[in-house]
Amino acid sequence: KTKIAVLISGRGSNMQALVEAAKDEDFPAEIVLVASNNPDAAGLEIARAAGIETEVVDHREYDDREAFEEALDSTIKLYGARIVCLAGFMRILTPWFTERWRDLLINIHPSLLPAFKGLHTHERALEAGVRIHGCTVHYVRPEMDDGPIIGQAAVPVLHGDTAETLGERVLHAEHALYAQCVALACSGKARVAGERVRLQVREFGAELLM
Ligand code: GAR
Repeated sequence: KTKIAVLISGRGSNMQALVEAAKDEDFPAEIVLVASNNPDAAGLEIARAAGIETEVVDHREYDDREAFEEALDSTIKLYGARIVCLAGFMRILTPWFTERWRDLLINIHPSLLPAFKGLHTHERALEAGVRIHGCTVHYVRPEMDDGPIIGQAAVPVLHGDTAETLGERVLHAEHALYAQCVALACSGKARVAGERVRLQVREFGAELLM
């Protein structure tokens, strides 16, 4: 199995979805570490309760981003993780970190990229009047919310939706999508070729139109 680290900053529901998926003996990844920049992240308790090692690398204890990222990098390596999954990790990472983990660093973003990069994606989707919204799992590049796409899941925008109701629908899709995409990445079935991901599966996609 591929050893992975999951980085969180808060609630940790996507991390929890990965923990649940990893209980399946056929899942190709083992979560060796859940790390947070925020000591109060609720997800840390969830991980501990599941018997997973946790670490806090509090960005406020470091002089600059570089020192913080060096500490994060060392912590991840200490646990032997080969792939790093960002799951609601709310610190912008510098090119030093993203290039060090190039093609080994995965993010989940709550929109159908390249639409709605950044924050408040559900509010902005409603404002834009899109009829289809969703989430994206991608390899991380230095530019924010950019990089080769592994998978996407779409949800409808329904009459009367608020950012909350739409966000819940997307979050549900995120949980299913992230586990599938991490499995593909860890089994070598989602390799980057020419800045796109070449998937080595036929059936991927249809079941993610939720
Ligand atoms: C998720 O919706 C995730 O896609 C989003 O934060 C939420 C974290 O929830 N990530 C970003 O916005 C990254 N820019 P969780 O802690 O329950 O997984």
